[in-house]
Amino acid sequence: MEKTLSIVKPDGVKKGVIGEVIKRYESAGLKIVALKMLWMSKEEAKGFYIVHKDKPFYDSLTDFMSEGPIVVMVVEGEDAINKVREIMGATNPREAAPGTIRADFATDIERNTVHGSDSPQSAEFEIKYFFSELEIMKG
Ligand code: CDP
Ligand code: MG
Repeated sequence: MEKTLSIVKPDGVKKGVIGEVIKRYESAGLKIVALKMLWMSKEEAKGFYIVHKDKPFYDSLTDFMSEGPIVVMVVEGEDAINKVREIMGATNPREAAPGTIRADFATDIERNTVHGSDSPQSAEFEIKYFFSELEIMKG
């Protein structure tokens, strides 16, 4: 069993697709084992996306991620990291496969509705960024 962190980004919350995102994960046999809504500060968004600190889109991305509430969740299942990223679709919605969350709901490459960890290492960092041990359901 693998765990991954997923986020319904500020545009996704505004578009009213929190339930739709969760439904797609659950329909694929994945389990939500932790969940909460919060509003990140700019500094918190910068810490979450620290791997992208040298990218040209870092400032704009962290403005976007701190513009409103988000829903963060820990998703568990076999091959959960890859499965969530498949259900999300490519970063750029114009390249996202039909039927993926980003193809269906994203506005553009920045406002792309969802986040999903891209490796076991990033999943560990990202889950710990938002959740304590006691907030993650076991068994
Ligand atoms: O989220 P994902 O792992 O698919 O993409 P990323 O390369 O890790 O980039 C993180 C986030 O930065 C993306 O989801 C977009 O919101 C944003 N981004 C952007 O605004 N412009 C880009 N050229 C690439 C990414
Ligand atoms: Mg990424």
